Amino acid sequence: MSEAIEVDISDLPGVGPATKAKLEAGGVTTILDLAAATVNELVENLGITEETAHNLIFESQRLLRDKGYLEKDLVSAQELFDRRSKMVKCTTFSKNLDNLFAGGIETQAVTEFYGEFGSGKTQICHTLCLSAQLPVEEHGLGGGVLYIDTESTFRPERVAQIARARGADVDKALSNIHVAKVYNASHLELIVKALGNLIQQNAIKLVVVDSIISLHRAEFVGRGTLSERQQKLNAVMHRLKRIAEIYNIAIVITNQVQASPDTFFGDPTKPAGGNIIGHASTYRVYLRKAGQERKAIMIDSPCHPYGDTNFMIIEAGIGDPDESKKSATSSWKTRAIEKKTVKTAKEDEEEKE
Ligand SMILES: Nc1ncnc2c1ncn2[C@@H]1O[C@H](COP(=O)(O)OP(=O)(O)OP(=O)(O)O)[C@@H](O)[C@H]1O
Ligand SMILES: [Mg+2]
Repeated sequence: MSEAIEVDISDLPGVGPATKAKLEAGGVTTILDLAAATVNELVENLGITEETAHNLIFESQRLLRDKGYLEKDLVSAQELFDRRSKMVKCTTFSKNLDNLFAGGIETQAVTEFYGEFGSGKTQICHTLCLSAQLPVEEHGLGGGVLYIDTESTFRPERVAQIARARGADVDKALSNIHVAKVYNASHLELIVKALGNLIQQNAIKLVVVDSIISLHRAEFVGRGTLSERQQKLNAVMHRLKRIAEIYNIAIVITNQVQASPDTFFGDPTKPAGGNIIGHASTYRVYLRKAGQERKAIMIDSPCHPYGDTNFMIIEAGIGDPDESKKSATSSWKTRAIEKKTVKTAKEDEEEKE
């Protein structure tokens, strides 16, 4: 499923070179762009009628379905099961957090981490930048990472620190992470539209969006702009979800929290962005500070029970509370330790001689 999609816009009925050129000029370069577009978007960007836009979206989805890239309207449970069996889980390097996800961060899904400042959202994203590169047999995704940074908080030196602490090749790890610095809401929308190509060209298996809402939240201020903001966020989320499924990749987004003044009991914070983000996220995890540790709470999942667990932010990224003082748990780290042990044994022998 992560292989290149071998259908072209011109394979659609009624789309000749002129329409193709018109679509491309409006930023629609692949059939996936069309399938994931909204009618309004096409009408606005291409100046076509609603009916044409409708037909183009409908036909592109039908073609992708026929070729097996998109789920059919009706699929057997067996087909669904086969599709799910291609799903891969990526370790977070914290056993506790992995257990909360019953194994790790899934492909074919959008996983949302939300929480207040300093709760560890960005640290988890940095750690995943490394674990996603591990081969599948070592609980990684065996591919590159695309990091969409909307808050200018991506730090290559932090990734390097985590890589070093886990005995990974720092240069190799950094060269497999592609960073898109995004400065405004429409830039984010554009990048998300171009995601299909970026994923294929760079063998991406994990896309991080840190954070999904900050730009839209900053730009669309006041009640009057709320519905426009929600509409735009909806299009972004909708496309992310489709892309996770079509390319069998993991998508991790972070979200901010907002005060919820109508809460009388419990925690008076809730994720920003309302239902739009919640509905499109497959998994929602709430992060909270708990002294030196961090608490992760599974708020919404189609298959996991409500649960919570604790993890820690450490030099090696994310780890478990009891292990933070000991060594990190990754296979990289284990390999590094093994290498050291072998070396020491050799050195011992040499010393004896
Ligand atoms: N090398 C490190 N070792 C240990 N802890 C670290 C290290 N680097 C950062 N931290 C801790 O991580 C925390 C910041 O977490 P993070 O940046 O993930 O927050 P966030 O949830 O993304 O917040 P925001 O909403 O502001 O983006 C701080 O408490 C900081 O002390
Ligand atoms: Mg952050």
